[in-house]
Amino acid sequence: MTLAELENAKAESLQEIAAAADAAAVEALRVKYVGRNGSIPALIKAMKDVPKEERPAFGKAVQAWRAEVEAALAAKGAGSAGEKAVDADLTLPGRWRSLGVKHPLSRVIEETAAIFGKLGFTVADGPELENRFNNFTALNTPAHHPSMDRSDTFWFGDDCLLRTQTSPVQIRTMMQNKPPIRVICPGRTYRRDTTDATHSANFHQIEGLYVDTKPVSLADLKSVLAYFAKEMMGDGVTVRFRPHFFPFTEPSVEVDFSCHVCKGKGCAVCKQSGWIEVAGAGMVDPRVFRHVGYDPAEVSGYAFGFGVERIAMIKYGIPDIRWLYENDVRFLSQLA
Ligand code: PHE
Repeated sequence: MTLAELENAKAESLQEIAAAADAAAVEALRVKYVGRNGSIPALIKAMKDVPKEERPAFGKAVQAWRAEVEAALAAKGAGSAGEKAVDADLTLPGRWRSLGVKHPLSRVIEETAAIFGKLGFTVADGPELENRFNNFTALNTPAHHPSMDRSDTFWFGDDCLLRTQTSPVQIRTMMQNKPPIRVICPGRTYRRDTTDATHSANFHQIEGLYVDTKPVSLADLKSVLAYFAKEMMGDGVTVRFRPHFFPFTEPSVEVDFSCHVCKGKGCAVCKQSGWIEVAGAGMVDPRVFRHVGYDPAEVSGYAFGFGVERIAMIKYGIPDIRWLYENDVRFLSQLA
């Protein structure tokens, strides 16, 4: 193309653009002249074939053509095909859509699963409506035990209740599997408690169970809970065991974490004791093994159980358990 031809082509293109009747026609011309395979980019690509001494002048002319075509297209509203004129102040701040955050109880459950996951524990599940055998009998709880009372437990008839603990998932897991077993079982639990700052009739527990044909000891239990304490509450947090009683473990212990706030010196959180009670635990009682068809001479194991609310309250400094159920965004969003 000579310079003269280029000027003609330019004049023609500008006329065409000026004559375009609607947005579709403008768009078609944009594609024709400055689109990726349009005639102007093609000319720029072909520039190497223009004799060297003509190149500067030719290049300038092509650039000028392009600029004029783009200006003419813009004047015709190219690039805004289909858009309506905006009748709003675009400098106003936008509408905020806040991102949700995970509930503290979900966080504790997920973190616990991740921590025990590293130790080879998987997550087991069971129903919230249980029978007497799984919730009490197989867990070696005598028929006269106060926890079975109607004033403590939500019964539906004689053999159906809202589980009072996650321990029945131990029974279900052992009845369905052979050792070795390593599970944690998070879930809802129910007791006829009157709601106050530290009690709720519906709360959450996480059960842990390890059973093996190799000897399992109280020291194994302690080391696993010490690891959990450190991972969940922070470096420097240790555990201590106090003798206790549970029908389904022997020996049984209550587990305290050293206070993560004062580091054991004594503060309001740990009621000046330096320790916070978090869990019940112990070595699985041989009677429990017999109930699920295991031979206590061949297997041994430990179990533990703790309240999810309790861990969440001490970890995040939540003074009232009811806040965990009210779904008040002012409270929940503080964990963002
Ligand atoms: N289920 C017991 C409770 O609710 C806790 C526990 C679990 C104790 C496992 C020992 C072993 O109090």
